[in-house]
Amino acid sequence: MNWTIIVTLATGLAFALPAAAQERAFRLGLITPPVHVWNQEVAALDETLQERSDGRFSITAYPSGQLGNEATMLQQMQTGALDMAWLTTAELTFRVPDMAALHAPFLVDNIEDAARVLRSDEAREILDLLPRATGTVGLCYAMTGMRQLMTRQPIAAATDLNGLRFRITPAPPISRFFEMFGAAPAPMALPAIYDALANAQIDGLDMDFESIINFRYYEHAPHLLETNHHMFGMVALVSARAWAQLSAEDRALIAEAMQLHCDRTIDRFVAEEDDKLDRLREAPGIRITEDVGPEFFGDIVERWDAEWGERTPYVARLRALVAGF
Ligand code: BEZ
Repeated sequence: MNWTIIVTLATGLAFALPAAAQERAFRLGLITPPVHVWNQEVAALDETLQERSDGRFSITAYPSGQLGNEATMLQQMQTGALDMAWLTTAELTFRVPDMAALHAPFLVDNIEDAARVLRSDEAREILDLLPRATGTVGLCYAMTGMRQLMTRQPIAAATDLNGLRFRITPAPPISRFFEMFGAAPAPMALPAIYDALANAQIDGLDMDFESIINFRYYEHAPHLLETNHHMFGMVALVSARAWAQLSAEDRALIAEAMQLHCDRTIDRFVAEEDDKLDRLREAPGIRITEDVGPEFFGDIVERWDAEWGERTPYVARLRALVAGF
């Protein structure tokens, strides 16, 4: 047999292999560092996928925004350069305004209810909008807890927040919340925050307990207002291009594995939130003002809802959902 025939036969055989037999190492990007719960669950997802696919599927994770910020990762998934990402719901609000409802200020006042919102039919409906708006498929939600305010200077009243430059996660609904109480929002990706604080480029930040602990922001912003002012969600995304190349069976396998680790992530945040606050109470130099409610910010909830309720019906729908909890 000559070489041409061998190559032709081998190529034909490769095409004849059923899709289910192909091996894939999925590239998954995320903005958080290896110590974060998301990254731990992505590592566990890799194990689950390898086990359930008999070694055909695995995950190669790119943490800490190695591939760029979340907007860049979303573009990479659209072109197919990146297969998967765990991205904040905040980033997705640029493309899917309905996702802004998940960032409604004081939508929930505790992390258990945040978990119930993320597991609701209403929240799942918002995921259905992703393929058309982003070229990605949203498999499930998880979270990184509730958000708090941290500042360099002590804050006794809402007027003390006036004019302060606050780092926020880039997202229009979050930006408007900060503008509404008179602050100057400074959108910035997670990996850039510590240096910006150390160099006094910002006066404060909007952050969750997990990252406050991981990055020790209290070293430069020791005043923590425990506001729980919005929940901070995550969506496990797959590039629509990568998804289209998979068989129905493999999609189900991946969706179930992803759901398992989204659920574990949510459960871990719910279980660990109080312990994280306890740990922060022991952090050197920190000053915590506990139980700061929506009343601290005056009528901000009404003003925010009036503006964002015009853009998405999910503001009213999620408020109604939570009222029924
Ligand atoms: C942030 O941008 O603040 C953020 C992003 C992902 C996880 C935690 C925080």
